[in-house]
Amino acid sequence: EKGGYDYFMLKEIAEQPKAVADTLLGRIDGSGTLLLDEVRIPPSELREVGKIVIVACGTAFHAGMIAKYAIEHWTRIPCETELASEFRYRDPILDHRTLVIAISQSGETMDTLMALRHAREQGARVLAICNTNGSTIPRESDAVLYTHAGPEVAVASTKAFLTQLVACYLVALYLGQVRGTKWGDEIHSVIQELSAISVQVEQVLGTMEPVRELARSLADKNTVLFLGRHVGFPVALEGALKLKELAYMHAEGFAAGELKHGPIALIEEDLPVVVVVPSPRGRSVLHDKIVSNIQEIRARGARTIVIAEDGDETVVPYADHLIRIPPTPTLLQPLVATVPLQVFACELATARGNEVDQPRNLAKSVTVE
Ligand code: F6R
Repeated sequence: EKGGYDYFMLKEIAEQPKAVADTLLGRIDGSGTLLLDEVRIPPSELREVGKIVIVACGTAFHAGMIAKYAIEHWTRIPCETELASEFRYRDPILDHRTLVIAISQSGETMDTLMALRHAREQGARVLAICNTNGSTIPRESDAVLYTHAGPEVAVASTKAFLTQLVACYLVALYLGQVRGTKWGDEIHSVIQELSAISVQVEQVLGTMEPVRELARSLADKNTVLFLGRHVGFPVALEGALKLKELAYMHAEGFAAGELKHGPIALIEEDLPVVVVVPSPRGRSVLHDKIVSNIQEIRARGARTIVIAEDGDETVVPYADHLIRIPPTPTLLQPLVATVPLQVFACELATARGNEVDQPRNLAKSVTVE
């Protein structure tokens, strides 16, 4: 049932191109228009939405953080992403013009369920993004967009995360399409690029041997740091979460701009730091700032592990290890940048002799608050 792989996690990482393609299937027509009639909230109501709040936990929360960038950019609707476990306890401001998006692979996470119940009691509309047909979260929501990752068995979420991202992009682009924004042309071209993304994920998977080798060489380290900016920041958080839960290592993700506000004090000789570099073609100011960050930490002795786009030569002099990813539109980069981090964590866990599919102390679905 592991299809020839040693672990479900390896199988599920390998299934990502298909999971992504399946989640897009039937949702984009030949002319590049989104068809999301299954989201049974009528366009007239979507045009009235004044605020979006995303609630989720763990890896799904990281997908939600990325969705915020996409939603606000393409729709200009204010969007916040909140940990489901914090949400209802701070008396959030909600009304019938608030769209709450609950993201959950299992559809049974109690924190997320309680958050959405609270939102509905306050009159908000709830859209679930979920991987499990007929589970509690979609049943209790006004609408649902299913991810088509197939069953995810390994405790650490991989293919579900990528499909959650795809679903979030679809919602963001659909809202942009329904409401009309000045980014109409961009939306159209991003939809085209999204349809091609599963091939790029496949490409990344084909180049992972050096990442595995690197992971094995770091098996006796205690700490790994992750840096990113813009949508690369949640990617850094996700890379750190994977490493904590699988390798039981101290791992932290930071927004690269925060380095000088504290975390740079952690940098010492030979400390591995993974840096997610944004595309030099997109928001190039951010790209250049991250390159300076890499120089700064390297000057202080860090061992830099740089994830950068093919053809980005500016990072080469400062990268002790360079992991290449294919060029994508800025907002879609997490779909390709996360994959090496999953492989990295899985291989480190294996090298440390950990149980990859069943990390200690964790359950696949957390049904208590
Ligand atoms: C991490 C992981 C967890 C889940 C979180 C939410 O690899 O799997 O952080 O993402 O418990 O679970 P769902 O998506 O089922 O609500």
